[in-house]
Amino acid sequence: MSTADDDARLAPEEVRAIETLSRQYENKRAACIEALKLVQRNHRWISDGRLRALAPLLDMTPDELDGVATFYNLIFRRPVGRHVILLCDSVSCWIMGHDALLQHLERRLGIRRGETTADGRFTLLPIVCLGHCDHAPAMMIDDALHGDLDAARIDALLNACRGAVLRWNAR
Ligand code: FES
Repeated sequence: MSTADDDARLAPEEVRAIETLSRQYENKRAACIEALKLVQRNHRWISDGRLRALAPLLDMTPDELDGVATFYNLIFRRPVGRHVILLCDSVSCWIMGHDALLQHLERRLGIRRGETTADGRFTLLPIVCLGHCDHAPAMMIDDALHGDLDAARIDALLNACRGAVLRWNAR
């Protein structure tokens, strides 16, 4: 279970949106991933409090919904930064230079994989195959998929996210 924000609850408009969503399915449980995404769009991650509030709207127990949220690697159960970088570490990307790109990202961001920058702007996470193997190495930043990566392309993408000069790490 997550570590903070446990008192948070769903806003009334979120509850209405989830009820509207779940009515589109014969079984409310079928809406669980979309409902988790909806809550995550508003809060960046799914706190324990919000998960507990969401579960009964989908006729699920919190443990059942947590199982789905934990299994689905695009649902975040811990706080993340404004931009989430998901670097693929599956075989095609690994062969095509994953390790060097990971080191580059870690240097540029000043964090290790699994961490969030001190300014809360970026979180760097691993992910399994993104289905973009013909353009390996690949990563996602938020909802956007990027392939054929090299250090220069990564720098350009980070700069585009920041809209400002990066704090270059001299390591
Ligand atoms: S192995 Fe990285 S996108 Fe498939």
